[in-house]
Amino acid sequence: MKNEEILRTDVLIIGCGIAGASAALEAAKSGLKVVLITKNAKFEESNTYYAQGGIVSLGKDDYPELLKEDIIEAGDGINNPEAVDFIAKEGKKAVETILIKEMKIQFSRSSPDSLDYAQEAGHSRRRILHIKDMTGKTIEEKFIQALNKFSNVTFLSDQTAVDLLTIPHHSKNLTAYYKEPRCLGAYVLDNNTKRVHIIFSPYTILATGGCGAVYLHTSNPSTAIGDGYAMSFKAGARIVNMEYIQFHPTSLYHRDADGFLISETVRGEGARLKTRDGRTFMENYNSKKEMAPRDEVARAIYEEMINSNSDYVDLDLASYAKFDIEKRFPNIYKTCLDFGIDITKKSIPVVPAAHYCCGGVLVDSWGKSSLKGLYAVGEVACTGVHGANRLASTSLLEGLVWGTRSAKQIATHFDPEVPCKISEIHDWYYPEKEEDVDPALIHQDWVSIRTTLWNYVGIIRTRKRLERARADLDYLRHRVDKFYKEAKMDPLVVGLKHGIQVAWLIMYAALSNSESRGAHFITD
Ligand code: SIN
Repeated sequence: MKNEEILRTDVLIIGCGIAGASAALEAAKSGLKVVLITKNAKFEESNTYYAQGGIVSLGKDDYPELLKEDIIEAGDGINNPEAVDFIAKEGKKAVETILIKEMKIQFSRSSPDSLDYAQEAGHSRRRILHIKDMTGKTIEEKFIQALNKFSNVTFLSDQTAVDLLTIPHHSKNLTAYYKEPRCLGAYVLDNNTKRVHIIFSPYTILATGGCGAVYLHTSNPSTAIGDGYAMSFKAGARIVNMEYIQFHPTSLYHRDADGFLISETVRGEGARLKTRDGRTFMENYNSKKEMAPRDEVARAIYEEMINSNSDYVDLDLASYAKFDIEKRFPNIYKTCLDFGIDITKKSIPVVPAAHYCCGGVLVDSWGKSSLKGLYAVGEVACTGVHGANRLASTSLLEGLVWGTRSAKQIATHFDPEVPCKISEIHDWYYPEKEEDVDPALIHQDWVSIRTTLWNYVGIIRTRKRLERARADLDYLRHRVDKFYKEAKMDPLVVGLKHGIQVAWLIMYAALSNSESRGAHFITD
């Protein structure tokens, strides 16, 4: 590797959803030099962009204590009390100052002088601010616009983070082993040139989002394969709670819909779940019916589907809505109509889908991980806010709060000195004979990963299924490792390597925990 391929910066941010973007904004405002990378061609492409429901604030007759209780009830009691306390108290202020005042985001209103607060499962009050059913899209676009005004922010798209650069691991200097392990940036693959370069930075913020796409059915974009978890694990950062994979109860059931989400706010506005022969069933599972926590709703749907040998259940909004459906849910209305379903007249066929990872890189209240120099924010991080199951619409808020705080912390304690010269860092190793990538092999490995997780590490788990998953994933991991060492560098190869690692982490966490809690439901 030549020196000109090394980029130096004050802060490297990997990923640009609300968490990465808010970290970048805060760091840029403090005058730090920021490099923001995404593996996607467009910066907007992120889980945030697809968030429909909204962002938690506090509604009328609402208090931080009530929100805290709801978060902990949904999380099945294993939340980090300090983190919950913090988000419940600070969240509303962050929404008001950053999103409403600073970025001038116009949330939907119920009247000219009153914001519209939506309802979602598990919330005891109407407290979700939203922009119709396209909340994430607007927030993401506003952030990108705001960041574009800063000359100290460098945007690099089509850049796949391959490995975190850590010492002593990547140091040529053998005495580095006597120093504290530290992250100093990342090895990054340029998707176009297929060459790996170094971004050298005293501080790295991981904001790579979640890993829903390691499952067969997911509400996440196909790029959400958990790169951040895989890289952090390899770098030695602590990772916790990976068994708590949340399944969204309602994604659109349609061959071409690609996990399109039917927001929980649809049930919040009165829609009811029914079997295909028109029978409501949620009253048999929880007294809160459709407003039960989403893990319970997802399991109820799964059970009803199995009992009736059906591929989906129906979500009936048309019979219950007392408002203009098209106006309140324009995106869902239009998308369903494109698939031939008029939701103002007909029920929506829905199935659960992998949606959110409640665990991740363990961080403190500033987003600091156990590895020096590495911060993690948003879904890739585990602050402990979500416990065993995330309360709806808390993730954008968590990303905003922790994203901003991580950059504040870095700016306050900024120290450009690092205990290692760039000349001491290993070049990227390319295999002597780089083999061309056969996409058929990669495709088949992904099918194995996704079906294994869906069937054996899914909504309902058993020890037998998990043991089977371990055997299959151990073998696959070994095979992918060998393949990776010989293959030409390519984003597909890196993605597969990260994907199998993440699948293995989820399986291993699930197998190690025999107690059903929240999203981890094990029947024996
Ligand atoms: C939804 O709109 O149902 C998703 C909200 C969330 O996952 O927080």
